[in-house]
Amino acid sequence: MNKQDAHARAESLLKQMTVEEKIAQMTQISYAGCTREEALMWAERGAGSFLHVLGDDAREIQQTALHTRLGIPVLFGIDAVHGHCLNRDAAIFPSQLSMACSFNPELPKKIGRATAEEVAEDGLHWTFAPVLCLARDPRWGRVDETFGEDPYLAGEMGAAMIRGFQGDQLDDPESILACAKHYIAYGEAVGARDACDTEVTMRKVREVFLPPFRKAMEADCATVMTAYGSLDGTPLTLHEEVLKRVLRDELGFKGFVVTDWDNVNSLITNQHVCADMEDASVKAAQAGNDMMMRTKEFYEAAVAACKDGRLSMEQVDTAVMHILTVKAELGLLDYPEKPCRKGRIGCEEHRALALDAAREGLVLLRNNGMLPLKGAKKIAVIGPNADDIRAQYGDWTYFTHPMNNPDETEPQRPYTTVLEGMGNVFTDAEIVYHKGCDVMNRTPSDLEGAVAAAKGCDAIVLVLGDTIQQAGETHDRADLSLTGDQDALFRKLRALGIPMTVVLMSSKPLCIPAEAAEADALVVAFNGGMAGGQAIAELLAGKIAPVGRLPISFPVHTGQIPVYYNSLTGWHGGKYEDQPAEPLFAFGEGLGYTTFAYSDLAFDPETLQLTVTVTNTGDVEGTETVQAYLRDVVSSVMTPVKKFVAFTKVTLNAGESKTVSLPLSRESFSLINAKEQQVVEPGEFLLMAGHSSKDADLLTLSVQMA
Ligand code: BGC
Repeated sequence: MNKQDAHARAESLLKQMTVEEKIAQMTQISYAGCTREEALMWAERGAGSFLHVLGDDAREIQQTALHTRLGIPVLFGIDAVHGHCLNRDAAIFPSQLSMACSFNPELPKKIGRATAEEVAEDGLHWTFAPVLCLARDPRWGRVDETFGEDPYLAGEMGAAMIRGFQGDQLDDPESILACAKHYIAYGEAVGARDACDTEVTMRKVREVFLPPFRKAMEADCATVMTAYGSLDGTPLTLHEEVLKRVLRDELGFKGFVVTDWDNVNSLITNQHVCADMEDASVKAAQAGNDMMMRTKEFYEAAVAACKDGRLSMEQVDTAVMHILTVKAELGLLDYPEKPCRKGRIGCEEHRALALDAAREGLVLLRNNGMLPLKGAKKIAVIGPNADDIRAQYGDWTYFTHPMNNPDETEPQRPYTTVLEGMGNVFTDAEIVYHKGCDVMNRTPSDLEGAVAAAKGCDAIVLVLGDTIQQAGETHDRADLSLTGDQDALFRKLRALGIPMTVVLMSSKPLCIPAEAAEADALVVAFNGGMAGGQAIAELLAGKIAPVGRLPISFPVHTGQIPVYYNSLTGWHGGKYEDQPAEPLFAFGEGLGYTTFAYSDLAFDPETLQLTVTVTNTGDVEGTETVQAYLRDVVSSVMTPVKKFVAFTKVTLNAGESKTVSLPLSRESFSLINAKEQQVVEPGEFLLMAGHSSKDADLLTLSVQMA
């Protein structure tokens, strides 16, 4: 249904609603947080939405809602963030961080679409994804949920994913609502302490954190989630400037805003800015939150506040209109059970997509010629993450979510670990496996056993990383070194002198200077989903070529953080006495099985097209991610040393050259000035294009902009 008709439909419903029915629409109930009887009571009251409920339980709630006076259907939300992963039959795709390594927006778009089909088949309507936070401090627990550190890349990938979830038409039977979260600057909390205060100015918010949300609005994202945390002491839940002025007036957002989990209550219990529930409910609603996640106490408090005049009916009507208009646009008011296809959950097509995605998410960072691994007769596969599907999946699957009681949940097939993938792919070799140690020393290590297993092998594949206990909400880390005996395991195996590839299977960058310097090859795999192990084995065998690039910089040492590439300059070298200024690996880095050379960088000031010639200088075909950066030479406020502004991929045969175009826009040249205005300041700009964000990898051209 188009926006105009949806608005009219919502208006006619609003006119018939009582205060209680309106406030109920603004209340989202956690199914896990109540008994079945309570859930049905909330449906009878007309609760606008439930989260974390599947299958028949959801159907029963919907039937109850449909039999109420106005029969407004319930909107069901779920965290389907890398697939419909809380359903154990679903296709489990790589994490957003892994998807971002592809630098291929088509990928999150396809994954978004596949996820939407699976969520819709389960009778649900709304995913709390994508995450548009930036991961500029890798100590943060939720790095895996992001598209990395860069605003431009996160915006491109996020907008594509939203288009996948929402399809061409929201009322298509297999479209679901997307949710741009967490609004805003959530990942920048001090000390990477989840949900703490963010000490950045509004200018910085606009410059760094807003662009991905702007892209989300351009993609017509239907909902936005208010972050936990606060901005310079004002809880985001109460931040009228960001929730109303910026989001609605400037970005033109027309959908509805949902708080994060129990944000209204947190105003009292965690943030201490409200005295009681009525106070918190009034302020959260007035600030621009339309729906309150999980805080059911909001209902009575807000009804009372409406009756005594503390909460204005105008504000309530605005919120309810936002919610009902989205429900109408989704087609929910006409088809509470949309006629979507069956058999899409975990189907073959989605599993094939999961494998493609895992392949594109792998980043080769070192290779002294060991890879591709040819002719090995006996391969040792060692390490705690070589055969651990939980670590491979990462956060937000049925293992980690309370909805499924993680302790009692067993992994469900199909999936392929690295060990299994190696067996599938290296059919002519003998594969020897030893775990060596745990990631967190939960069981005794057996380093000597691992060494004994590896002796006599032609190659070692050592799979290190982190576990699901070290990722996610409330799992921030103060130290990003490898934990347990993983470093010791690496050193003992290295001492054997057998060619060794280290695979880092982790939720985020870890500090691995020794492995980076001493291993013969290093592959970063992040959380690759159900086919992650298969993709890794294929890459090691040379059945696929590595195409991934880093969407996030790797620190040498935790104390060196932050190391994101788009920093502002200082004049004392930016290094510590005891640590270098440079990261271990920079944004955009990643090798292939061939090499590329760049030449002839040119810019057309009329069309704003940057062009560069790329030549495959190796002897096999390969795909290069051509990256463009920009620097404003003199600006009224300090601007980053470089800013990522465009990228494209090109596949070239050995020896082949092609000239590729990188379209820039006026916006690429803009900055946020001291008055918080987005402007282009005329003058000189340096345009750069090449293989990664490192100076040595870039050609540079000076241009003038009027
Ligand atoms: C997270 C959100 C999530 C919500 C619902 C919160 O704790 O911050 O990202 O969507 O829970 O599960």
